[in-house]
Amino acid sequence: MTQAIQYSQTGGPEVLSLNEVPTPTPGPGQVLVRVEAVGVNPVDGKIRSGLRASPPFTGPRGLGEDGAGTVLALGDGVEALRVGDPVAFSGAGGAYATETVVDAAGVYPRPAAVSPAQGAAIGIPAGTAYQVVRSLAVTGADTVLVHAGSGAVGQAVIQFARLLGARVIATSSERRAHRVTDLGATQVAYGDGLLERVRTAAPDGITVAIDCAGTDEAIDVSLELVTDRSRIATIVRGAEAAGWGIRAWRGGSPVPMTDAEVTLRREAIPVTLALLAAGAFHVELGRTFPLTDAGKAQEELAAGADGKLILVP
Ligand SMILES: NC(=O)c1ccc[n+]([C@@H]2O[C@H](COP(=O)([O-])OP(=O)(O)OC[C@H]3O[C@@H](n4cnc5c(N)ncnc54)[C@H](OP(=O)(O)O)[C@@H]3O)[C@@H](O)[C@H]2O)c1
Repeated sequence: MTQAIQYSQTGGPEVLSLNEVPTPTPGPGQVLVRVEAVGVNPVDGKIRSGLRASPPFTGPRGLGEDGAGTVLALGDGVEALRVGDPVAFSGAGGAYATETVVDAAGVYPRPAAVSPAQGAAIGIPAGTAYQVVRSLAVTGADTVLVHAGSGAVGQAVIQFARLLGARVIATSSERRAHRVTDLGATQVAYGDGLLERVRTAAPDGITVAIDCAGTDEAIDVSLELVTDRSRIATIVRGAEAAGWGIRAWRGGSPVPMTDAEVTLRREAIPVTLALLAAGAFHVELGRTFPLTDAGKAQEELAAGADGKLILVP
């Protein structure tokens, strides 16, 4: 049997309960993983609360996309993994559980140097950052402005943009300034006067802006500073992006991601695992919670938590 966090209606954290369910069987092309760490992402709480749309309920459903653990069983046709392999995964749909089934396309061998918590922290954040930076064709000739650079996605954006040779200006609170400077970005505080602070930090201009904050301020400053709107992107205000003529990937965008963009998100996982193992990438880990406190972890994240929050089943 499997212990899984489930819910049968959208709402506050109280809709989540820990249920005992039959351990799922991997179908063709799927992998059954014993989950050792789960990465809590903002989208998990947005889907739970109904802020982000999801299909109608047909019964209790699980949640959670990112995790890491060990392969327990393989469905037909999965050749690249073996039972017992340590893995990191994304795209589970039911990662908040002791065991979960994931499509093999989202499961990657996890090097010994990468802990389960680190492996669980990269799927959505690093996947999004890598795809956005690559889709915007960032190069060493760019000066990139990243809003919310101190968050999970923002920290990954800084690192991928820096690996491509770009100069990076990143917004954060003053309290969290070290998170972005340690990664090689120039920090500016978000809040009143942001436009002038960015102009002072980047007198030669900004060529790419990536909004991971979703505030009016982040959008307005980006529109003011970057002339080419095809090089401004938001991952939060996707529903409004077309009206501004800027790019968006998910975040409520009605435009589905292309196959190439989905491939980039997946490719990010082995790329990031290799960088982590080589000591060339950093993920900031926050508090850990037992599975029973999944709702508490989601609320803490929504209120503003430092580092990636991890559930340990
Ligand atoms: N479209 C997609 O595919 C996609 C994928 C992943 C995430 N997202 C979305 O992207 C957003 C960030 O995700 P995350 O995982 O990086 O979240 P996170 O780790 O919780 O980070 C939140 C960030 O927001 C910053 N922040 C708080 N108030 C701010 C303000 N007024 N102005 C500017 N920044 C502010 C925080 O900075 P301080 O800590 O310094 O205060 C922190 O850097 C979420 O809305 C998430 O749902 C979208």
